[in-house]
This record gives sequence, C-alpha cells and structure tokens, in this order.
Amino acid sequence: MSETFNQPAQFTDLAPEHKLVLDEILNENKHKPGATMLVLTLVQERLGFVSLEMQQYLSQQLGIPLSHLYGVLTFYSSFRMHPLGRHKINICLGTACYVRGGPTVVEKFQQVLGVKVGETTPDNRFTLEICRCVGACSQAPVVMIDDDITGQINPQDVAKVLRKYA
Ligand code: FES
Repeated sequence: MSETFNQPAQFTDLAPEHKLVLDEILNENKHKPGATMLVLTLVQERLGFVSLEMQQYLSQQLGIPLSHLYGVLTFYSSFRMHPLGRHKINICLGTACYVRGGPTVVEKFQQVLGVKVGETTPDNRFTLEICRCVGACSQAPVVMIDDDITGQINPQDVAKVLRKYA
C-alpha cells in the first residue's frame, strides 16, 4: 500500500464554519440509534443543505459508505445538496402546464441561468426547481418566482422575467 493511501482523507473544500456545525451535530448524535437520518436532518435544518463535501466528511465520521448517504439524500425530497438562492424559481410541470409547453420553459430557464433543475446559480441569486400544479392552470404554462406567479410564459420571455430580479 502506498504512503498516500494510508493517510487520512483531507476535506480541504469543507468550509471551517460548516465543519464546526457538523462536528457539533456528530458529537451529540453519532452514537444514537438511527444516527444517519438524525444527523442528515439536523445538518439540513442548521445549514440548509448537505453538500458533497459535507457528505464525504459525514461518511467518514459515521463510518458508512458515501453511496448510502447519497441514496438517503436523493430519496427524500426534504434534503437539498445545494444552498438555496435568494430567489426560488418553481416551474410548474402539472398536467396543464406540461401539455402547454412546460418542458420547453424548463429548458429555456436552464439555458439562461446555466444551471440544471435542483441547482443554484453560482452567484446564489436563483435556485431552479420544478413543482406540480400551483392552482393557476388557466394561465398555463406557469412559473412561480418566490411568491409571484407569471402565467402564459413564453420561453422567449425568460430573460426579461429574470431581469426583474437582478
Ligand atoms: S398544472 Fe400548472 S398551474 Fe395547474
């Protein structure tokens, strides 16, 4: 075995302030029954997301495979792996919005923002998500940004709509 292989993993990308919170949660909970779910839930509550760097650290500290943690985080929709942006964009893909062009609207938002659904823009301004019917089917396709609903959205209007939140 090489010397490098025997060295403990380094978590250079884990922010010190996040490590402090993780250590606090781990110290109080890692020996409790159901520790994995408990620790992930508390990290989500305290920090608002569980990043890959946090997952790597938790995996080592809890002694469970990273793939197991990832499986739990992706199974439950209450967990986030990225921080929330200042504005949350929810594109409706309920039936009415879907058949009236919702998927094209999603593609256009992804293209303009340069992120995929579930991600936050690097400047932390927008988080892009999908939702089901928001009760405005007569205006389909519908996009909700924070608490504002924009109906009959045309993919060509996406950049203009986003400028309001600049
Ligand atoms: S399906 Fe989109 S608002 Fe109802």
